[in-house]
Amino acid sequence: MDFLKPRYTPMNRRRRIYEGKAKVLYEGPEPGTLIQHFKDDATAFNAKKHEVIDGKGVLNNRISEFLFQHLNDIGVPTHFIRRLNMREQLIREVEIIPLEVVVRNVAAGSLATRLGLEEGTQLPRSIIEFYYKNDALNDPMVSEEHITAFGWATPQEIDDIMALAIRVNDFLSGLFLGVGIRLVDFKMETGRLWEGDLMRIVVADEISPDSCRLWDIKSADKLDKDRFRKDLGGLIEAYTEVAKRLGIMSENEKVQTGGPRLVQ
Ligand SMILES: Nc1ncnc2c1ncn2[C@@H]1O[C@H](COP(=O)(O)OP(=O)(O)OP(=O)(O)O)[C@@H](O)[C@H]1O
Ligand SMILES: [Mg+2]
Repeated sequence: MDFLKPRYTPMNRRRRIYEGKAKVLYEGPEPGTLIQHFKDDATAFNAKKHEVIDGKGVLNNRISEFLFQHLNDIGVPTHFIRRLNMREQLIREVEIIPLEVVVRNVAAGSLATRLGLEEGTQLPRSIIEFYYKNDALNDPMVSEEHITAFGWATPQEIDDIMALAIRVNDFLSGLFLGVGIRLVDFKMETGRLWEGDLMRIVVADEISPDSCRLWDIKSADKLDKDRFRKDLGGLIEAYTEVAKRLGIMSENEKVQTGGPRLVQ
């Protein structure tokens, strides 16, 4: 498999495809591949709040690698190929479906506000929500009617996305439960991947404490990006705790923040 062979392109000569708030995408070593680079930038409230938190990108790269590799292993298709270094991973390029798929198990965040639920209330069942990925519009919530009417995804694709979302939720819920963490909710992105004439929907982007709500089961401490949103401090410590519980980092390890850095 050719794409597994490294291609020695100096960092600063790689073609930058896209720079987002938390990540940069570079052209990959083979057609159909990309390099996903995790930055230390933290943003919230549609980027109105922004900070650089040393080491966050390294932790998210490792945690996302761990989760995507396990999803691949249990037959949930994802864009992930392999991690390249501390901040970067090799992924398959997909056609991103412009929806943020949110799965909720426990009331928190905007759902708690919208429906007047107390944060922490277990929901009667897992709920899937769709938001239209559009920063200018503040990622508004949309229904299946909007999605099909505007052609963002077909009814069949929505079914596939929901089936994927449930599998990812079941896997993540069980995995985190096993290490004393409650998966309150998470966001995932999906994309179309073509293999010849065949197209399938795969999980893309990242799954990390930036995109999940993770609460310690015993203390109810938040181990996710709400530490930043709510100015609680201790974000790196919380993400490190998640990595340690998952067995990604050893007990005494400290996150190495050196290594490949973003070339401006
Ligand atoms: N496999 C993939 N192929 C193509 N694009 C991808 C893939 N995985 C993720 N992306 C896209 O790469 C970008 C990652 O950057 P980042 O998460 O920083 O973006 P962002 O600032 O959150 O902006 P956006 O609103 O576009 O998500 C996102 O736009 C995401 O949709
Ligand atoms: Mg993003």
